[in-house]
Amino acid sequence: MRVNGKHYRTVWMKGNSVFMINQNLLPFEFKIYEAKSYHDCCNAIRTMITRGAGAIGATAGFAMAQAFAETNSKDDKGLVQSAKKEIESTRPTARNLFYATDRVFRAGLLSVNNAASEAQKLADENIEEARLIGLYGNELIHDGFRIETHCNAGWLGFVDYGSALSPVYTAVKSGKNIFVYVDETRPRSQGARLTAWELQNEEIPHAIIPDNAGAYYMSEGKIDVMIVGADRIAANGDVANKIGTLEKAIAAKEFGIPFYVAAPLSTFDINCKSGKDIPIELRSQDEVHYQTGLDGKGNVIKIMISNPGSQALNPSFDVTPAKFITGIITEKGIIKADGNSIKKLFE
Ligand code: MRU
Repeated sequence: MRVNGKHYRTVWMKGNSVFMINQNLLPFEFKIYEAKSYHDCCNAIRTMITRGAGAIGATAGFAMAQAFAETNSKDDKGLVQSAKKEIESTRPTARNLFYATDRVFRAGLLSVNNAASEAQKLADENIEEARLIGLYGNELIHDGFRIETHCNAGWLGFVDYGSALSPVYTAVKSGKNIFVYVDETRPRSQGARLTAWELQNEEIPHAIIPDNAGAYYMSEGKIDVMIVGADRIAANGDVANKIGTLEKAIAAKEFGIPFYVAAPLSTFDINCKSGKDIPIELRSQDEVHYQTGLDGKGNVIKIMISNPGSQALNPSFDVTPAKFITGIITEKGIIKADGNSIKKLFE
């Protein structure tokens, strides 16, 4: 993905450092954050310098490789095991994080170099998976389509191409005229800040809409299809994604709008029988009470936007039951959101 004409990956490793686009500063500043240790990577995931299931997974994989290099001994299993636990404690919902730490941990038991090359392989695989999701998803998008999306499941959230936005990019590249309705996605506004910034960079026509405007636009016949990403998909097809996804899926069903989830196989967790088994992250109430933005002079400032004395609750994800999902776009094709189709996918 290009930013001001230069190609960037969302996250990459060079030497013993992991570099990532600092998503907390976007869209106001474009800066690269350098994580010199696995501790730095843990902090980056926890504070959402990097975020989005795929980017979290790739960063966690690189962090695991750093942990092997830092402990400098494949025999000191205890140290890398506790590093693994620390990386896994940063964010609980995105399945890709655990997929990555497991894979790189197993590889690192052979050698430190093996850990690094496995982490790199994993990030490269993500890119190819996202590219294929784009090709399959493009088949669902017709010329003139108006697409709604929630949160940021673009290339910032998935190393390159993205998951939910990959079909959008592919559709535009194949010459289709489309329009994207971008849910702002409170409280952290990943839609208003990140998805809108990505789409602007790609010169794709779009508009940010308040979170509570989705059903209105659907009822007005303005949305042809909704595509979202996923943080974890259970064995029965229930999908955990950014808070607010569930409401959109229910509204889409009511108005007969196809509702698709885009995610690679590494986001599926067949050990979770249903969405009830997916851990939901609760984040700080400060994210609800405060927002950062630009003041009149172009300085980034933080302001309080709600009643100071009130408690705020901040669940970061919700689970959309499979019955509301038209299909799941994977790197192996589009499948139904049900237990049998998912079982077949993994056979
Ligand atoms: O809390 P976030 O910003 O990490 O949540 C991200 C999402 O919910 C995305 O929709 C999801 O990871 C899709 S894939 C990038």
